[in-house]
Amino acid sequence: MSLHIAAKKGEIAETVLLPGDPLRAKWIAETFLEDPICYNEIRGMLGYTGIYGGKRVSVQGSGMGIPSSLIYCHELITAYGVKNLIRVGTAGSYQKEVKIRDIVLAMAASTTSSINHSKFKHANYAPTASFELFMKAVQYAKDHQIPITAGNVLSSDVFYADDPESYKLWAAYNVLCVEMEAAGLYTLAAKHGVRALAILTISDSLVTGKGASPEERETGFSEMVRIAMGTL
Ligand code: HPA
Repeated sequence: MSLHIAAKKGEIAETVLLPGDPLRAKWIAETFLEDPICYNEIRGMLGYTGIYGGKRVSVQGSGMGIPSSLIYCHELITAYGVKNLIRVGTAGSYQKEVKIRDIVLAMAASTTSSINHSKFKHANYAPTASFELFMKAVQYAKDHQIPITAGNVLSSDVFYADDPESYKLWAAYNVLCVEMEAAGLYTLAAKHGVRALAILTISDSLVTGKGASPEERETGFSEMVRIAMGTL
């Protein structure tokens, strides 16, 4: 067991899906996995391992924001030997063409977080997705006619911005949407030589001010999980 994860060695698969919400982890495990076993309840941050399409896979809640999610990702990599980390989460659209329920693959993640700014002595590091996972996800979406968009996203440190117009600068540089974890995940994965990808469903739009209905959230989430499982 590690500090925040109660699983014994070998109880977590090499590929882990990472929703922020632990109850989403439970829902994914119960909806998509055969024989799911809950290996973690510490802090209510549920984690499960089960079988999908004959392959072992785990789902671990990671909390909101880079600091929380990196605690879980660090322990998954260093204590449990996890090799593929796939974030499945929601994001707010920055572009009018990127609509509610659209699925965005984060090729790269810009950030307002200072994690890399201090690490790289005020130079800028470019956190990028694993090419291998990215290509597998694209291929799966293509084969199953699930429309996707891909590009740069913003991993923000704040959900409630002081200035509601501040997104426009990122939007002008073709950042597609905002979430709160991918830049940290990609940097950590690079450090440890493992693979990471963030697959996002648009749950709200900063351009239109609209949000997804509960049904839209659920369907969007299912498609995103199917793409994530398609990389197995
Ligand atoms: N900001 C940050 N993260 C998000 C948002 C948002 O507007 N929507 C969904 N995740």
